[in-house]
Amino acid sequence: MVAQFFFGDLLTTGSGKLRTGIESNDQEENQQSAHEEAFRIGDEITHKGPILHICIHLSTAFISRPRRYIESMILTPEILAGLRRDTLVVFFTGAGISAESGLSTFRDVDGYWARYDPTQLASPDGFRRDPELVLSWYAHRRESALNAQPNAGHKSISDFQKLFQHAVVITQNVDGLHARAGNREIIELHGNLHRFKCFRCGQPLSAPCGEAAVSCQCGGPGRPDVVWFGENLDPGQLQAALDATHHCGLFFSIGTSSQVYPAAQLPLEAKRAGARVIEINPHLTPMSAMADLTIQAAAGETLPTLYREIHEALAV
Ligand code: OAD
Repeated sequence: MVAQFFFGDLLTTGSGKLRTGIESNDQEENQQSAHEEAFRIGDEITHKGPILHICIHLSTAFISRPRRYIESMILTPEILAGLRRDTLVVFFTGAGISAESGLSTFRDVDGYWARYDPTQLASPDGFRRDPELVLSWYAHRRESALNAQPNAGHKSISDFQKLFQHAVVITQNVDGLHARAGNREIIELHGNLHRFKCFRCGQPLSAPCGEAAVSCQCGGPGRPDVVWFGENLDPGQLQAALDATHHCGLFFSIGTSSQVYPAAQLPLEAKRAGARVIEINPHLTPMSAMADLTIQAAAGETLPTLYREIHEALAV
């Protein structure tokens, strides 16, 4: 199988309408394809995503705990049972984890892509057409990110990274909030908007804060060092993400609509490799049906609670 690291969920149709790979209403077909887990990075995306059920389990079987504690538990005994301090844990995040820091997501009703055209703002063609527009949008996003503070979700990941010997963050976010929260081992699949590179030759460029329009020695214009639609992910970063995903015992998918491939493939890869998958998102996603646990809630509210539950379980 040929691995292609092609970034893009958005396929522009002839009418210019944007569609995703998630269109089927056929639940049976959806369930089947989710359970067959028939995807690999670089495969053509034919997944028809199911919108199935919510499954927050109260662990009434966890009888060694006091009753009030039992009633408040989110995590199932099955998930807690297999955990040890040397379990490799992956935190796979999307724009939703930064929502409680005040940063916009993309596909929520008030998200960027409800207001702006991604082909104009986040594609090489869009940059060629109107570099000033693209740079000013990224300057705005950079400023928003710098003015935002990491929230309880980001900070909980740091706590988890102290609890577990090995915990990796794989993020689609480019805002830098994971690092500012003190998270370590961060794989930034879609780059970082605080870095710059040459649009022509890819050479890293330095730019003063808020000034991305620097030119490279080769004469090419500067651009943010992020992955745009139609561009390849950094193969090294993607491989590192796959390695962690294939070897982890617990995989959190947090605040992502799971519509952008190849990143959206990772929870499926984790599941296929035998990890427990927990999704945290106020809304159901195409991954919800295959997750071991889907928690329909905000990341900043949920992660501190999960941290306490896991901390307590590991202390026993
Ligand atoms: P999306 O905007 O597609 O999805 C954000 C998800 O976060 C949604 O499913 C929300 O329901 C969820 N969400 C909102 N608030 C939340 C909260 N407080 N806690 C947890 N979840 C919450 O963002 P991504 O999946 O990250 O690429 O998008 C992936 C890529 O598509 C981005 O990297 C970006 C975008 O186009 C480019 O800009 C090129």
